[in-house]
Amino acid sequence: MSQLKDKVAVITGGNSGIGYATAEDFLKKGAKVLITGRNPEAVQRAVHSLGAPAEGFTADQSSLADTEKLAAYVRSRYGKVDILFINAGVGKFQPFEQVTEKDFDEIMDINFKGAFFTAQQLLPLINEGGSIIFLSSINAYSGMPNAVVYSASKAAMNTAARTLARELASRKIRVNVVNPGPIVTPILEKAGITGEEAIAFRAQLAEKVPLGRMGESPEVAKLVSFLASDDASFITGSEYNVDGGLIVHPLLA
Ligand SMILES: NC(=O)c1ccc[n+]([C@@H]2O[C@H](COP(=O)([O-])OP(=O)(O)OC[C@H]3O[C@@H](n4cnc5c(N)ncnc54)[C@H](OP(=O)(O)O)[C@@H]3O)[C@@H](O)[C@H]2O)c1
Repeated sequence: MSQLKDKVAVITGGNSGIGYATAEDFLKKGAKVLITGRNPEAVQRAVHSLGAPAEGFTADQSSLADTEKLAAYVRSRYGKVDILFINAGVGKFQPFEQVTEKDFDEIMDINFKGAFFTAQQLLPLINEGGSIIFLSSINAYSGMPNAVVYSASKAAMNTAARTLARELASRKIRVNVVNPGPIVTPILEKAGITGEEAIAFRAQLAEKVPLGRMGESPEVAKLVSFLASDDASFITGSEYNVDGGLIVHPLLA
């Protein structure tokens, strides 16, 4: 298993959940991995448990100044990027009527604006043959109640990715999107949902998934690794759901 041998990979939001599992998978496949996150201790703990050659850099994806610093660091440390996995994101779940401008800006600034400018700032470092992967969600399509801003932030990402795939094709940079369904990670707790509520919500979601369960982060990571590898050399402008079939849940049954 060395299909990412010596590739330089940057993963935003790599200290937990899907980003962390992807860092593990990339390392297993021979890549050099830099993860980011907002909290320096959490980033350092993750780097320690991932082991060398993982590295960390503290950067808030919603801050263009932090993203510029990240790009400068990556340039000086590695001189190039082969794989950019834009994964950092937050959820906040509330009815439409209760969404404030602050809620709207927080989610959009991290999930969409931050993702957009991360791609723009790191693009000059991405090699010919490189790969950008955006971590979106089936929420981009699902119309799930109480997720209006989150869903819109992800839908914006998917459409931007299609345009980037066209614009960057002449430089042989591939751009793809992964849309997970419900995956067991700390995202609900970080959104302020209590432990008990999160357990109940996950059970409710699992019942709706045709495969009858939530997904696990490594199941998303393996898809990301494939898209990042040269095995996916003819794949760009595409989206892949990894959702146990939730997006095709039958209306009647
Ligand atoms: N879990 C699911 O069911 C699911 C489904 C579909 C899509 N997704 C998407 O998957 C991605 C990863 O989420 P996850 O489920 O793995 O949750 P997670 O464990 O909470 O991971 C989110 C990661 O993003 C980082 N992050 C959040 N805001 C950031 C910011 N402003 N700047 C830099 N890093 C930031 C977090 O670091 P901190 O410790 O600093 O917060 C963490 O490393 C997100 O984009 C999410 O929307 C998740």
